[in-house]
Amino acid sequence: MAILKIARMGHPVLRRRADEVPDPTAPEIRVLVGDMLETLRDARGAGLAAPQVHVPKRVVIFAASREPMDDEDDAPDGEFSPLTVLVNPVWAPLGDERVLTWEACLSVPGLTGAVPRYTHIRYRGFTPAGEKIEREATGFHARVFQHEFDHLNGILYPMRMEDLSLLVFTEEAQRYGLPSLGEDEDESEGEDAETEAAEAVDAE
Ligand code: NI
Repeated sequence: MAILKIARMGHPVLRRRADEVPDPTAPEIRVLVGDMLETLRDARGAGLAAPQVHVPKRVVIFAASREPMDDEDDAPDGEFSPLTVLVNPVWAPLGDERVLTWEACLSVPGLTGAVPRYTHIRYRGFTPAGEKIEREATGFHARVFQHEFDHLNGILYPMRMEDLSLLVFTEEAQRYGLPSLGEDEDESEGEDAETEAAEAVDAE
């Protein structure tokens, strides 16, 4: 395994649509996934998509755990997810509800932005062992999946933002706090948002 160089915003590999993987069980996919796991661990991220390591294939890895990269804790469904590898993922929202929360990205270093995402989704894909995974996800789990999936279609999180005044340098946010996400945000959601922002800032 090897730690791979991470592509940053502006690199063409992050702008194109990644290719379907004809055989999820192919040996080169196993090697790629091994390298992606090591790269993600090294970067202390929550997720990584193959285009971020300059490989335009439809492969994502992520963990939506209470602890980054925790692959044992937490139930596989719902708000938290163990370490997951998905080849050729597809997804659909379950309902129209979206929530605005903070994200960060290894390909957009130093910045944090508030991005609307669907709160409840269903996704599926294949593992490199050829097994089909199908899950419903909510909250942070749903958000991380949507973020990583977007990388496969050449979309970085700032392109999803509806209010660019909510794109800030992480360092300044740490000094001055994150901007408010608006009046219709209730207190408990605000706390969640801050927790998730801290996770995203540290992790992704
Ligand atoms: Ni990203």
